[in-house]
Amino acid sequence: MKIVVAGTGYVGLVTGVCLSNIGHYVTCVDNNVEKIENLKQGILPIFEEGLSELIEKNKTRLIFTTDYTTAYKNPDVIFIGVGTPENQDGTANLTYVYQVIEQIATSLEKDCTIVIKSTVPIGTNDKIEQYFKEHSKYKINVVSNPEFLSQGSAVKDTLYASRIIVGTNNQTATEIMEQLYEPLTKEPYNVPYLKMDRRSAEMVKYASNNFLALKISFINEIANLCEKIDADIEQVSKGMGYDKRIGNQFLKAGIGYGGSCFPKDTKALYNIGKENNIELEIVKACISVNNNQRMLLIEKLKKIYNNNIKGLNIAVLGLTFKANTDDIRESAAIENIVTLLQEEVTIKAYDPIYNKDLTKILESKLTNKELVKKFSFYNNIDNAIKNTDAVLIFTDWYDIKKYTVEKYALLMNNPIVIDGRNCYSANQFKNKNIKYFSIGRN
Ligand code: UDX
Repeated sequence: MKIVVAGTGYVGLVTGVCLSNIGHYVTCVDNNVEKIENLKQGILPIFEEGLSELIEKNKTRLIFTTDYTTAYKNPDVIFIGVGTPENQDGTANLTYVYQVIEQIATSLEKDCTIVIKSTVPIGTNDKIEQYFKEHSKYKINVVSNPEFLSQGSAVKDTLYASRIIVGTNNQTATEIMEQLYEPLTKEPYNVPYLKMDRRSAEMVKYASNNFLALKISFINEIANLCEKIDADIEQVSKGMGYDKRIGNQFLKAGIGYGGSCFPKDTKALYNIGKENNIELEIVKACISVNNNQRMLLIEKLKKIYNNNIKGLNIAVLGLTFKANTDDIRESAAIENIVTLLQEEVTIKAYDPIYNKDLTKILESKLTNKELVKKFSFYNNIDNAIKNTDAVLIFTDWYDIKKYTVEKYALLMNNPIVIDGRNCYSANQFKNKNIKYFSIGRN
């Protein structure tokens, strides 16, 4: 099939490349000239395992362009995979989606199927269809096909997806989508394919993300209780996970969830509830638990230093919102660094992948911009922790987990490790002259 994908972020780019890999001819459109020029040369805007290899493998079926007018002229199917960031009030911002919709309406020269992959509030597909009825003379089928990929394993999550959810409201669209995804429903992929109405498909995405976020907030609450009652959250999670009804995933306690999806999708769902006069109590609690959890390491640090943290030298290990991604969106590390800088703490940060200059981001969040001078970045753990008064761990990167713990005692001024991801076991610190604190373990 001749497919166009709008947006070359995590969702759009991975979708486009994976669709080319199952035999479709795909044009990826983005309005960012630099991004497209880089992609043409094989330079990727994101760090995703296996993606560049797939681009190389399918290069005869892949085009990258900023020329949307030509791209949207006569494809069989157009996927929309642009971002739906959070508005200030927590609702989803659909500006980018509607920008693309307008461009499509003015460029299309035939009937077409438009597939919405971006996470959009329930009912958006209906509104988009109405827009096309009013602004295009062609028959446009709007399909909801939410994305469930997780950053770091996005290619695998797309090709070997847990399920493909397709919400349509007419037979033509249903048949086109079945044909499009047929290769993924067969060997070797065997992805389950679920057809449903569009509103339910839109809801599956929000309900799934919120449920996963809820599991994390739940286990974090239990972890905080474990600390008080002298139980070990790692053992508790393990014990719970053997029950197939609970499952063993997303029960890892830590400093809460971050990233581009859970924080915004929980708030968006809560707002959808409010707009429909339903107070989603569980979603509300999930958000509130997460907000507190994200600041837990500073709380522990203050407790250790009897609230006197001004002037301390602190190492921050891990800047990304989770391991195996270069994304710092809604990363607890950034929020914590800003709070610590405001309290006149000196920060020495390390991350194995994220190495862009953070100065501008930090400055934009600091009330006293001068304090940004107290932040520095190091590209190895040794230098980051040297002469510091405590280490705060925010991301469970492999090289942080494998770091020789004796070095904390050797290199630090005051060997205190506050591990927000339970990267180590308490045993590793026995008789090492290092004070070790973690989440949900005494
Ligand atoms: C998530 C969903 O998993 C994916 O299906 C959806 O399409 C987009 O949002 P992603 O944001 O890439 O994907 O990351 P994910 O691996 O789900 O982790 C989200 C956050 O939760 C991270 O900050 C992670 O560290 C945290 N997390 C995850 C935990 O704290 N504990 C866990 O057990 C799992």
